[in-house]
Amino acid sequence: MSAVEVIGASKIFNQGKAQQVDALVDVNLTVNQGEFVSLIGPSGCGKSTLLRLIANLLEPTSGSLMVNNKTVSQARLDQDYGMAFQQAGLFDWRTVSKNIELPLELKGWDKEKRAARAAEMLELVKLPEFANLYPWQLSGGMQQRIAIARALAAHPPLLLMDEPSSGLDPRARIEMRELLKELRRMGKTILISSHILFELAELCTAVGVVEQGKLIFSGGISEMMDRAGSGSMVHVVVDERPQEAAALLKQVRGILKVTLEREEKVVRIDVTIDPKSGMPISDIPSRLIAQGFRVARFSHEPMNLETAFMRLTKGIVS
Ligand SMILES: Nc1ncnc2c1ncn2[C@@H]1O[C@H](COP(=O)(O)OP(=O)(O)OP(=O)(O)O)[C@@H](O)[C@H]1O
Ligand SMILES: [Mg+2]
Repeated sequence: MSAVEVIGASKIFNQGKAQQVDALVDVNLTVNQGEFVSLIGPSGCGKSTLLRLIANLLEPTSGSLMVNNKTVSQARLDQDYGMAFQQAGLFDWRTVSKNIELPLELKGWDKEKRAARAAEMLELVKLPEFANLYPWQLSGGMQQRIAIARALAAHPPLLLMDEPSSGLDPRARIEMRELLKELRRMGKTILISSHILFELAELCTAVGVVEQGKLIFSGGISEMMDRAGSGSMVHVVVDERPQEAAALLKQVRGILKVTLEREEKVVRIDVTIDPKSGMPISDIPSRLIAQGFRVARFSHEPMNLETAFMRLTKGIVS
């Protein structure tokens, strides 16, 4: 059974007079039980909107969404998932502990059980000494962790998290990643959004790349690398005649793609090598030198997650 099923979901927002935003366009996404799926994409691409649709905090303009094979409104009533969203959403008049107990109150747990569970959750997020403080007495990062503690309190098998690491300092980000690792070990199904791919890469079983409201890729990390083209990239700067140098390289077998990029004072030639060709990268400067070009700079960028992501979102791969 899939935990989340998004079928052709679109969301149009009206922003004032006759201004419409296609925040999501025909998105299809399946998250199976036990998966850890990261939604990645630039600011404003629609990640939060998608999570809010799944959490039934927004209605889609068209399409449908299911959680645990139920309508999202039923799943929300049944508290089938826990959520920790961008603004932590804690209640300032309730202590930290009472915030965590909220979903348990809604489920009718008795007082002692609730308090014990809240204490357990505070241990998990490593803030046990804060139980009786109020959210406004905590830092932003601590509030995010309390929001996660609350999301987890009622043992939901599914967690929806919208950028739990945003606004955290580097140390707190590392701690957040440790917490996510722990959740993964616990077998939770997780759908999480982030700007930053590499932070989650080692944790997630799949990624969904969102760009301008469209899910342009979903699948495993290695599949994503394949889609982006696993060839490595070489950057060259020649003293003169970069167009001619680029034209020369375009003729070479084993070179997939040559583009020119303007840098401050020079034009850089970006060369993508076909990994199957077995061509050594040193061939590139030697060929240029043999033709009388003076190579001022030469560097090599192996394909990694970030470059694969950039290539996917720049539409280099379509
Ligand atoms: N309630 C709303 N009313 C009108 N427009 C909205 C609303 N919520 C979001 N939008 C618009 O929808 C688009 C997608 O926004 P969304 O918040 O989903 O992006 P995001 O990917 O979560 O960005 P970020 O990484 O900055 O959180 C944006 O253009 C935004 O301006
Ligand atoms: Mg967002």
